[in-house]
Amino acid sequence: MVVIFVPKESAAGETRVAAVPETVKGMLKLGLSVQVERGAGKAAGFPDGDYEAAGATLVDAAARSAADMVLGIQTPPPDVCTQQKPGSLLVCTLMPGLSLPSIKALRDGKVSAVGLEFMPRITRAQKMDILSSQATCGGYQAVLLAAVHLPKMFPLMMTAAGTITPARVLVLGAGVAGLQAISTAKKLGAIVEANDIRPAVKEQVESLGGKFVDTGTPPEAETKGGYARETSEEFAKKQREILTSHITQADVLITTALIPGRKAPVLVTAEMRKGMKPGSVIVDMAAGAGGNVEGSVAGQRVVVDGVTILGDANLPAQVGADASRMYARNVLAFLGEFVKAGEVKFDLQNEILNAVTIVHDGQVRHEPTAKSLAAQGS
Ligand code: NAI
Repeated sequence: MVVIFVPKESAAGETRVAAVPETVKGMLKLGLSVQVERGAGKAAGFPDGDYEAAGATLVDAAARSAADMVLGIQTPPPDVCTQQKPGSLLVCTLMPGLSLPSIKALRDGKVSAVGLEFMPRITRAQKMDILSSQATCGGYQAVLLAAVHLPKMFPLMMTAAGTITPARVLVLGAGVAGLQAISTAKKLGAIVEANDIRPAVKEQVESLGGKFVDTGTPPEAETKGGYARETSEEFAKKQREILTSHITQADVLITTALIPGRKAPVLVTAEMRKGMKPGSVIVDMAAGAGGNVEGSVAGQRVVVDGVTILGDANLPAQVGADASRMYARNVLAFLGEFVKAGEVKFDLQNEILNAVTIVHDGQVRHEPTAKSLAAQGS
């Protein structure tokens, strides 16, 4: 029988887990045997007993070495990767460019590795799309975090103690995370504005009750996959000019703009940020990718010129229960792609498997990662 192992995540601040009791049941239905490390779901609010009741076996960390498949959230360190047996499979958010020593360990140990973040954005794979599910959690949490740090309340309040005006929220980058941020801020009663460079976004922002700040559409704003492209400096300058007055008025600024495989665009310069009211709050969701806002620091909360800038590295982990539920359902749907009645058919002709398999049979299949390893002489 094919044995799945679900570890307790070891990265600092990580609360999520790649399987929840509900998806354990789903994996059993696929004909798999499921082993869960004791305490794996504790930080996300899923006690060991619930996994056991769902049909999993509770095990220690050492069980990794006998498993056929390991389901995780983050890439394990190299000394943990080497514990997996040859021919086994690791499924997680691999981030190969940031985990070269682990990729090398997997390659040399003949362990196959799937990076779920490489899921193609095709209709069939929507239910396996961890980037979307986790961005949804992140966009929601960004607004709550901002609300807690803002010395002002979000909704309009007409009280005996007078009227309290609503907070103004500006969202830059209205993809999955940004749209969720808009929706959450609206529900809290804020006045919401948003900007993006992809033309399809205006209607989506308006349908959520936000006001679209139009800075124009650069030529070829969007790739075939629906992602944004890098803009010219000339376009970025014009965009900054238009955004400046909106940034000055905002109590909360949430930035989510990303360009796949590139450093995030700087949408807010230090000069623009200085125009913000003291006490206002910025959540830079792109901080880990270089930042949309000058002065944001990945993984840190800083106060600059009276403005609080939150660069929290892992917002989904702050809503670990639902982030885990969504991630685990994505993983279960992915397993359903190649496991039938307990049999694993890992066929790289399959469009989805071909896209997400980064290491296989002692080879690194992701070209930029293979090149980086070669450049290091490893
Ligand atoms: P993302 O996380 O890569 O970027 C976030 C947002 O920032 C995007 O909306 C992007 O247009 C915007 N942005 C980039 N550069 C900018 C700039 N200079 N100024 C302002 N905004 C900028 O994007 P995300 O959220 O992952 O999704 C983007 C696209 O993928 C959308 O078209 C979405 O519909 C599509 N998608 C498709 C799915 C599927 O078919 N399975 C699933 C999820 C998303």
